Amino acid sequence: MKSFLLIALLFSLVYPALSQEFVPNYEESKVPTYTLPALLEMENGEPVESKKQWRKRRGEILHLFEKHVYGKSPEWDGKITSKVILENKDYLNGKATRQVVRLSLERAGRSLDLDLLVFYPNSVKKAPAFLGLNFYGNHTISSDNQVAVPEAWIRNNEKMGSSNNKASEKGRGQRIANWPYEAILSRGYGLVTLYYGEIDPDYGDGFKNGVHALYPDEKRNASSWASIAAWGWGLSRVMDYLEDVDWVNPKKIAVLGHSRLGKAALWAGATDERFALVISNNSGCGGAALSRRAYGETIGQMINVIPYWFSDSFSIYNKRENELPVDQHQLLALMAPRPLYVASGVEDTWADPKGEFLSCVAASPAYELFGKEGVPAEVLPPLNQPVMGSIGYHIRSGDHGLLPYDWAQYLDFADMHF
Ligand code: GCU
Repeated sequence: MKSFLLIALLFSLVYPALSQEFVPNYEESKVPTYTLPALLEMENGEPVESKKQWRKRRGEILHLFEKHVYGKSPEWDGKITSKVILENKDYLNGKATRQVVRLSLERAGRSLDLDLLVFYPNSVKKAPAFLGLNFYGNHTISSDNQVAVPEAWIRNNEKMGSSNNKASEKGRGQRIANWPYEAILSRGYGLVTLYYGEIDPDYGDGFKNGVHALYPDEKRNASSWASIAAWGWGLSRVMDYLEDVDWVNPKKIAVLGHSRLGKAALWAGATDERFALVISNNSGCGGAALSRRAYGETIGQMINVIPYWFSDSFSIYNKRENELPVDQHQLLALMAPRPLYVASGVEDTWADPKGEFLSCVAASPAYELFGKEGVPAEVLPPLNQPVMGSIGYHIRSGDHGLLPYDWAQYLDFADMHF
């Protein structure tokens, strides 16, 4: 009887806490007052006034993000081999080449394959290119069945044809509108994409699979790499390959990503300065949006639902955003002086569009050190009116998604800077 009472008592204490649903704040008046961590001030208090000092400050900020947010990825000391497993040089009536290239990453007696879907224009020597991870497999960006369905673990999504964590033919071609390769090619750019789950499957697997498996002896700690860092790291391995390929100009590669993959693209751009241009599409909390605004998705909510995206050390900032030694404007500033584009959707309030814009404003002083203008706006621009300095920004009509409208701006922005 006693133990029953004890259990009942414990239950009544724990249940309300468990059942408390997260209620996002969507009211500007309820955004807490906050002070952003200083961008142009060294940890020892010295002001940062030159490009040279920025290099040092950049190192400090990068280290803080590794330690408290994404975790530190290992240096790559393995071997990469590549094999073209599908090639059509006469694609789109001879305008382009399409390939599937299999990269094999080998290390510690283990190996992992990543399949790249590649499109490049035949008429351009050393073309600039976009590189981005896709959510549901390369076959979703191909209407013909030559491009295979991935075998790796995949999130279930009826429309994309995945169930029991397996992709299927049903997803074929479903994402062509989101990766408009014909428009990209006709503007003289190449496109390289791969399924992100081949790099690291998107579930809490204790970091046993994907690229983590290439490091069997790793002793994990609170600041070890987690999934976002792994996806970003995978983009760098693709860059290793692209540096040695004939058709592309490796100095003109833009890395882009949508949503969680926008967070990964930003982290790739921050950790790997070979990416000449960086694009965040609706990356939101843990991406471009300022954490201290706690508008829409918050750190606490992310940590509760998807803890394995971030290093363990990030979890202590649940409802303690003000104590986090960094905020996301500093992540954006790590791209300086390279061009950076941040895009929001007006209905995508979960990702806090205004917080994404304010983050660009607060990152701009790092660009000014290089004599460049960051984002050329002080207040949120009107709908569908992009602004483009060295930082570009737009807020477009509609919800969460990587849309042809977004691509049209990225192509203009790349034309401006490449
Ligand atoms: C969820 C998650 C976001 C993420 C998004 C996505 O909504 O909360 O942080 O950006 O998924 O990747 O689609």
